[in-house]
Amino acid sequence: MMNTEQRTFHLGAYFTGSGVQGDSWRHPQVDTDAYTDYSKYISYAQKLEAAKFDAVFFYDNVFSASDSETVARSPQAPRWEPIVLLSALAVTTRRIGLVASVSTSYNEPYNVARKFAALDHLSKGRAGWNVVTSTGGGENFNLSGHMDHAKRYERAHEFVDVVTGLWDSWADDAFLRNKQTGQWADPAKLHLLNHDGEFFKVKGPLNAPRPLQGWPVLSQAGSSESGKDLAARIGEMLYTAAQDKQDAQHFFADVKARAALLGRPAGSIKILPGVMPVIGRTQSEAEDKFDQLLETRDVDVVLQSLSSYASLGIDLTSLGFDDEVPLPAMIPETNSHKSRQQLLVNWIRKERPTVRQLYTKWSAGGHRILVGTAQSIADDFEEWFHDKACDGFNIMFSSTPGGLDDFVGLVVPELQKRQLFRKEYAGSTLREHLGLPFKKNQFFNS
Ligand SMILES: Cc1cc2nc3c(=O)[nH]c(=O)nc-3n(C[C@H](O)[C@H](O)[C@H](O)COP(=O)(O)O)c2cc1C
Repeated sequence: MMNTEQRTFHLGAYFTGSGVQGDSWRHPQVDTDAYTDYSKYISYAQKLEAAKFDAVFFYDNVFSASDSETVARSPQAPRWEPIVLLSALAVTTRRIGLVASVSTSYNEPYNVARKFAALDHLSKGRAGWNVVTSTGGGENFNLSGHMDHAKRYERAHEFVDVVTGLWDSWADDAFLRNKQTGQWADPAKLHLLNHDGEFFKVKGPLNAPRPLQGWPVLSQAGSSESGKDLAARIGEMLYTAAQDKQDAQHFFADVKARAALLGRPAGSIKILPGVMPVIGRTQSEAEDKFDQLLETRDVDVVLQSLSSYASLGIDLTSLGFDDEVPLPAMIPETNSHKSRQQLLVNWIRKERPTVRQLYTKWSAGGHRILVGTAQSIADDFEEWFHDKACDGFNIMFSSTPGGLDDFVGLVVPELQKRQLFRKEYAGSTLREHLGLPFKKNQFFNS
């Protein structure tokens, strides 16, 4: 792998547990039954492993839209529970990292610590937890609505401290299992957490051995101010959305500077912006593929979800397709996804787009879309990596399996030819793929 100030390039694959990315489910190259037919995910994960991807990642939330229009026409529900799905992938793959979003707002830390410890052992050290505060779901967890944004992040900090404290309940060599002496474990190698904080009271110990990686890799994907603070404190692999290189460079420098203030070196955080490549053997073939993708989308469904997602108080479906998108004088404050609203507002201010341009540009949920050949996409990736806009990318396939096959068949060999991306895995754990050290126990030296 090419060495640029010891930096290495990483690739993650973004999935939703429904098997459909975005709203393109009527595209001929999209599997529509992956939400129950698990063999589809085995096939995707094995192809990505053969292409030496660092990890597969599963987006998740604990709610689903229930209005008739969305239910009738959008593939938002149902989807797999991600830890269950990853447990199955752990035994049908051997090297690729397995990352799932799990909410800190609508879970208890003990349950989460236990599940990820088990996944890390099942996969022999390939687990990663994307720490999310969630974009909604309170009404499914004894609340009348979504927990407040600031409170969600305060809770997230404490939640992660409890989970990581529980992972460190036992020294790595606590379990002696000595049949001769009859000693199962060494009590001196047990740490009782006895946590008593603002949100959680947890005694410990965890009823699971220490994870194989010490801690599973901690991933994070919130880019609001509070999101970046959390990322700087605990994040090791960051997912983010950026429309242009300057924004990505700013995010990259900002988070790594915040981390440096906390004593964390730049290399301890890997930043992977999301990107949706649409790949052709020629530029015009790629453009045709993108047109076909847009044609299979339901414009009203996309505009409706974009309207609620943007939280600007504007119903985009009520405007003409060639009308300019208006921005309200005062941007309403959202309790959901602050950074994505900001990204959208900044882009609308800068570009003054029509509804059609917004629909086209934002058809990957705010992530960048690259329409081109393997060469032009590799040029772009190289430039972003060398200009410190990223440490790699989280790939959102334009369709599965079609877009995935294009990427592993055309772009990965081009990246390998340029010596930007690995041809073989050097290690076996997700930490090793990412160049992150084994996590030492905070309570024991061994
Ligand atoms: C690539 C990517 C994946 C994400 N995955 C999830 C997810 O699975 N579940 C979720 O609730 N939020 C997800 N988010 C959003 C954030 O994690 C975040 O917790 C939340 O929406 C608040 O964001 P904010 O800090 O930007 O306001 C994702 C963001 C990105 C960029």
